[in-house]
Amino acid sequence: MTNPDNPPFPGFKVGSVPVTIPLVLAPMEDVSNLAFRLIAKRIGQPGLMFTEFVSAMAIHYNASKTLKKLRVHQDERPLGIQIFGADPEIMANTAKLAEEMGADIVDINMGCWVPKVCKTGSGAALLKDPDTAEKIVQAVVKAVKVPVTVKVRAGWDYSLFAAPELAKRFQGAGIQMLTLHARFAKQGFEGEADWKLIHDLRKSVTIPLIGNGDVKTPEDAVRMMSETGCDGVMVGRAAISNPWALARISARLRGLEAPAEPTIQDRIQTATEHARLMIAYEAGLDSFEEAKDAHDYPQTEIRALRALRGQLPLYIKGEPGASQVRGRLSRVSSLPELETILQDFMELRQKADPEPCPA
Ligand SMILES: Cc1cc2nc3c(=O)[nH]c(=O)nc-3n(C[C@H](O)[C@H](O)[C@H](O)COP(=O)(O)O)c2cc1C
Repeated sequence: MTNPDNPPFPGFKVGSVPVTIPLVLAPMEDVSNLAFRLIAKRIGQPGLMFTEFVSAMAIHYNASKTLKKLRVHQDERPLGIQIFGADPEIMANTAKLAEEMGADIVDINMGCWVPKVCKTGSGAALLKDPDTAEKIVQAVVKAVKVPVTVKVRAGWDYSLFAAPELAKRFQGAGIQMLTLHARFAKQGFEGEADWKLIHDLRKSVTIPLIGNGDVKTPEDAVRMMSETGCDGVMVGRAAISNPWALARISARLRGLEAPAEPTIQDRIQTATEHARLMIAYEAGLDSFEEAKDAHDYPQTEIRALRALRGQLPLYIKGEPGASQVRGRLSRVSSLPELETILQDFMELRQKADPEPCPA
């Protein structure tokens, strides 16, 4: 194995912020919250993580649900807070608040393709409006001392690969890193990510370029870095309820041996830990123990478990017995209920696939 002091894929710097491992956890709405990030960091060891996107307009109107998304924990650094919006001044104010809340980096979303975001002129809609996009970048760079980064898609639709021109303008305006999700906005998640776009964008900027789209395995990560010349890879969907996917990629990029595969106990313990951290996060407190003693615990518990309903089944996906408890997991609303379901799952699994008897 390679000497860890001389890893095959070294880190990079985002302005003054060192990223020692060139693996980045993607911003993902309703996924990359504080609870999941703490798990992703401990198990997956990415070099950098981003929050889910935070609406500048919601912050402007003081929405408490959105303010919660700005919480940063010391254990998760370096952390980028991603913001979205279409108004340079409101974006600048939100960036300032993100910096005050402890962001190491402020990232601007120019990749979100969903209509509710684009119809406000935010997210990927900015790919069609380079002048406003540049004004937002300038305003945000001016507003904060921490480095500013941007995440883009290749363009709005196949008719124009807009990213190279935008990248040059944004670098000129002072951004310190660019991420490309190698699809066009109109594609949503359809088709395969076209990594050649990352390769082609490489020539447009000298700042770190992060490649993103369809990286699931260490082999994908190595291939993306080798084929495109990007400085790091960003992983999203493969890491949902699966921080071990990050751990495998992280080890490979550092030239370390592959970590042990998670046992089923690891998976269910992590699912439970995720639920406990989510309860703490929903309560706005540092630990589950503190949240448990709060007077509104029952409501917090329901909110937290509901928010995880889509993710909990994925922790055990593909295991014998998993399909029999999937329905119950997707309706779960309390921690004891989760623990009972996971116990039932372990019994079903044992019946379906009993350990061989010792001779
Ligand atoms: C559930 C979900 C939520 C997402 N939310 C965001 C977001 O808030 N901000 C953003 O820039 N991209 C968001 N994305 C896009 C991802 O950051 C990433 O670009 C995309 O999933 C491609 O990477 P992957 O193939 O590794 O998943 C989201 C993706 C998913 C699946």
